[in-house]
Amino acid sequence: MTITREPTTDHRSITPRGTPAVEEFLSQPVDHMARLPWPFAEGHEAFRYSVNVDQARVPRRTLAGEWGRHVCDLGGAEYPTIMAERRAVLDADPSRVKVLPGMELACWDLLLYYLRDLALSYPDVLHLDEGVGGDPDAFHWRNDLLGTDQAFVLGNGSTLPCGPLEFLAREVPDDLLLVRERDGRLHFDAGAVTFAAAWSVSFDVGMDMYEIHGPVPRMNGSGMTARAEQFLRRVPADQVFRRVNWNVAASPTRKYDIALESLPAWGRDMAEAVQRGDAIENCQFRIELEHFIRLPMTGAVTFNIRTFMASLAEVREYPTYAAQLATILEELPEDLGTYKGFIDLIPDMVAFLRG
Ligand code: HEM
Repeated sequence: MTITREPTTDHRSITPRGTPAVEEFLSQPVDHMARLPWPFAEGHEAFRYSVNVDQARVPRRTLAGEWGRHVCDLGGAEYPTIMAERRAVLDADPSRVKVLPGMELACWDLLLYYLRDLALSYPDVLHLDEGVGGDPDAFHWRNDLLGTDQAFVLGNGSTLPCGPLEFLAREVPDDLLLVRERDGRLHFDAGAVTFAAAWSVSFDVGMDMYEIHGPVPRMNGSGMTARAEQFLRRVPADQVFRRVNWNVAASPTRKYDIALESLPAWGRDMAEAVQRGDAIENCQFRIELEHFIRLPMTGAVTFNIRTFMASLAEVREYPTYAAQLATILEELPEDLGTYKGFIDLIPDMVAFLRG
């Protein structure tokens, strides 16, 4: 059986520095299951939506490896491939970054938070110098894995090649979403999102939590949106939280970009794979690892999404996981399967996972 592993874009914009630490980092084996945040607790046989949040930065063992040690998982040897896809999307479609007026400082806040966190998490390959030349607002960022070398002054847009949110989006695999309170409700008021799972950042920015979650079955009506909002309001400044969400992607390829904006580029992937007869094994179990952080300068809250994928063929290499996913898919209520978009594939997926 062939599992598609080729990168979907080239690496023209990325030139890693040839240090021993970079070579070691990029020579890690690519194993999609090893980093996958398995979303179901041991023994669970049914899935329903819930406000499933827990403390971040706590490593979790799985049958295949480990996830969750750092806020930002660069993705090992796949990092340049993911970043090449992300940068290609940003180059082609500026509408993937949308920042409403008044959110500029929150974007700087997010940039600084992440760069500091990244430099602490990956000290051999990522570096942030602070207070350069005695100026407390002057920074120097070096990312040896991508070849970035950028000095900037906090809050001064002319010192970066693009806005601070886009600059960060070009350095990390995470989709970046910022939430602020206005008119008594939490609103999604800034985002740099290239890997949305069949939704659109330019359409959703500016919406409140109830508007965003309107299409999600059982969410607003059940009080879950209210609970999610209450949780977000209470995120303290000194703790980071996370949550996992899952789906089976609409395209049976390793394309991360299955946003509504790029529908013409991926919309026929499933039909073509079905026709070829290799759809089911290449269906991607797609996990979103979301981090909630209250930013220190502005109090804005992040909802950053790191997407992981493993094909059903890769999942099947772990019989316990394959059996659990099959049971959960089989039990999934119709409205959830329909919203998630894979209801018609469930019988074939279950048969494959049990095969
Ligand atoms: C604890 C907080 C939150 C919870 C529990 C939650 C829960 C959910 C759930 C269950 C879904 C359906 C996902 C699926 O089945 O694949 C969803 C979709 C979504 N959520 Fe949230 N969410 C939270 C916070 C947020 C925030 C803060 C934002 C934006 C800043 C957001 C943006 C979205 C978007 C864009 C979708 C896709 C909606 C669509 O299909 O159009 N969520 N959320």
